[in-house]
Amino acid sequence: MRAHSVLIASNRGPVAFTLSDNGALTMRRGGGGLVSGLSEVVRGTDVLWVCAALSDGDRGAVRQAPGGRLDQAGNDTGPVRMLDIPPPIFHRAYNAVANSTLWFVNHLLYNTPTAPQFDTRFRREWESYREYNGAFALALAEEAAHDAKVMVQDYHLTLTPAMLRVERPDLRISHFSHTPWAPPEYFSLLPDDVAAEVLSGVLGADHAGFLTARWAGAFMDCCEAFLGARIDRAARTVTHEGRTTRIGVHALGVNGAGLRARAAEPDVESHMTAIRDLVGDRRLIVRIDRTELSKNIVRGLAAYREFLGRHPEWHGKVVHLAFAYPSRHDLPEYREYTAAVQRCAKEIEDEFATDDWDPLILNVHDDYARSLAAYRLADVLLVNPIRDGMNLVAKEGPILSERCALVLSREAGAAAELGPDSLLVNPYDVSGTATALHEALILPEEERIKRGVRLREAATAMPPHRWFEDQLAALG
Ligand code: G6P
Repeated sequence: MRAHSVLIASNRGPVAFTLSDNGALTMRRGGGGLVSGLSEVVRGTDVLWVCAALSDGDRGAVRQAPGGRLDQAGNDTGPVRMLDIPPPIFHRAYNAVANSTLWFVNHLLYNTPTAPQFDTRFRREWESYREYNGAFALALAEEAAHDAKVMVQDYHLTLTPAMLRVERPDLRISHFSHTPWAPPEYFSLLPDDVAAEVLSGVLGADHAGFLTARWAGAFMDCCEAFLGARIDRAARTVTHEGRTTRIGVHALGVNGAGLRARAAEPDVESHMTAIRDLVGDRRLIVRIDRTELSKNIVRGLAAYREFLGRHPEWHGKVVHLAFAYPSRHDLPEYREYTAAVQRCAKEIEDEFATDDWDPLILNVHDDYARSLAAYRLADVLLVNPIRDGMNLVAKEGPILSERCALVLSREAGAAAELGPDSLLVNPYDVSGTATALHEALILPEEERIKRGVRLREAATAMPPHRWFEDQLAALG
């Protein structure tokens, strides 16, 4: 058995495999912010990354690799162990509990007159979530050296820290939440025993990390309300059943130099040329999101529509580039939401487009190089989530455009650092967002540049390497 001294665990791993019709496997990088930040950190190291097989392609790769260890996973990552969790268990844990329950609770997304309903079906799903968390705990227990540091990531794996501690009391364990944490009055939607199990699961860690002081505070409030844990808010500790967990705030940022270098590559330049050919010298309002229910794309489009309605002087002079990339299409709510985004976009086209002006370009096909091109050309970046752990789009934009004004939801974690230099909006206030779009467009050049300098400083204050090192250090 290999013994690693640092391990990461997350649902999605740094590599993904596609199975072609003739049975051949192709490897690509795993997607998403969590994965790209951490990949950069572990590249070329011996940090073992334990993740789940997410697709048939992944399962095929695991079955070909002894013990699921993809040690040659690609020169982009360190060693990887992928867990082949039976698909029905994986789907109940990932889709039903992680994405349809814990994600909904932490992002305040329920339409409460009809959902949620915690019934016998949920209990079966919850049992699968336990099994899935248990599979991670077991694999980590097998792979970790004595006294190793294990860094468990996100809401998919809230039970793993406590399970792992039972197996391996010698380990130093951290848990990091990349999402917001719900305040007690909303967390209380969960059945009491489930709420308690989630919280005690995370408290199995020695260190529980959050992206902002607000989410860390909400977690401590929940521990007090549901477990009767002793909280020391000044020292940021939670004591429960004789053990103390330290709470940390680690505001993940961006590697500015790395991002700028990537954005200077020829594929990005050619996308810039293509965008310029399309929009000419019109001003550009940009948004870049995965089409997640929390991203508030529909209200963002409604705000743009109201802005055009109230400001005919901008007709023909501005274009909204809205990149809304596919996400979690296994869930019906996500498919419906994507359709709603497309409907809104069509209505804007129907109402305002003329022969020589397309007010809105909606793009639903993921293309990283094109996103970077859009950042570089943006006059205004719209980031208006209902709620978001951090939101790295808000940090990437200002790094790539010196004169980009940021319209930012006050409910995004990034608002804690970027708020003073952005135009902050209440994400539900469509009219307020429309006003902010207008104010952002007319913000004087000098003021944009001044704010841009401070935004870049804040955005690059804690690049992924430092973020990771800080958490390792917090484990002693
Ligand atoms: C977002 C969240 C992360 C989460 C990820 C999972 O990026 O901010 O906290 O880990 O979604 O996305 P997935 O595509 O794996 O469901």
